Amino acid sequence: MYLTMRQKIVAGNWKMHKNREETKVLISELKALENTSGSRVIIAPSYVSLAFAVKEINNEAAIDVAAQNMDQHSSGAYTGEVSASMLKSVGVKTVILGHSERRIYFGETDTLLKQKVNSAVEQGMEIIFCIGENLKQRESGTYFHVISSQISNVLFHLEAKDVKNIILAYEPVWAIGTGKTATPGQVQEMHAFIREMISWQYNEMVANSVTILYGGSCKPANAVELFSNKDVDGGLIGGASLNAEDFYAIVNANR
Ligand code: 13P
Repeated sequence: MYLTMRQKIVAGNWKMHKNREETKVLISELKALENTSGSRVIIAPSYVSLAFAVKEINNEAAIDVAAQNMDQHSSGAYTGEVSASMLKSVGVKTVILGHSERRIYFGETDTLLKQKVNSAVEQGMEIIFCIGENLKQRESGTYFHVISSQISNVLFHLEAKDVKNIILAYEPVWAIGTGKTATPGQVQEMHAFIREMISWQYNEMVANSVTILYGGSCKPANAVELFSNKDVDGGLIGGASLNAEDFYAIVNANR
C-alpha cells in the first residue's frame, strides 16, 4: 500500500481571452454550475485578471486560480515580467509552464523552463507542466523521444517529493485548437509511457502519484471517452473552457 496523491483535475486555460468584465461574467456562470464529478477545477485567466478572479470566486466555489506563465527570477529589472512571489501575493499558487504556445511563439526552451520550474518549486508553487509533440514529430514517429526529452531535460533533476507535486499535461501540438483530437488510444499510450518514464527515473510509487492531464480539442462530446483511460486523470482545456456550460460538462465527465 502507498499513499497516492494522484488527483482528478479539469483545468481551463483561457489563453489571451476575456477582459475584466468578461472574466466576471464567466466566473459567475461557473459558480452557478454544479460539479458532480468530484474533480478539482482550475481556471487560468490572464495576468491582469488573476487578482480579480481570486476575489470574485471568494471561496464561494471550489475553483482554484492558476497563472498561464511566470518569470524565472524572483525579482529585478525584467520589464514586463511577473514573479512567483507576485502571483502568490494575489492568492495564486498554481502556474502553467511549458505550454507549446510559449515554446513556439515566445521561444521558451527546455533550459529556460528548467529555471522556471526550479523557481516555482523553490517558491512552493504548484506546476502544471505541458509537453507535446508537433505534427511532423507525430508523423515521423519520433514522438516518444520528443516527450521523453521534454520531461527529462526539465524535471528529472528534481527530487521525488517535488516531482510528485507536478501536474503533467500532455498536449499534442497538432491537436491544440485544431478540432483534431488525439484518439483515446494515442492518449492512453502516451500517458502510460510518461508514467513508465517516471517509474524508471524515480519509482512506481512516484509514477502513480503524478497527475497526468490531456489537452487538445477536448470537448463535452469527447471528454468521457478520453478521461475513461486509466492513465488519464483529466484535462487541460482551451477553447471549451471559455464557455461555462461546456467547461462544466467536461468537468463532470471526469469521474
Ligand atoms: P484547445 O482545447 O483549444 O485545443 O486548447 C488546448 C490547450 O492548449 C490548453 O492549454
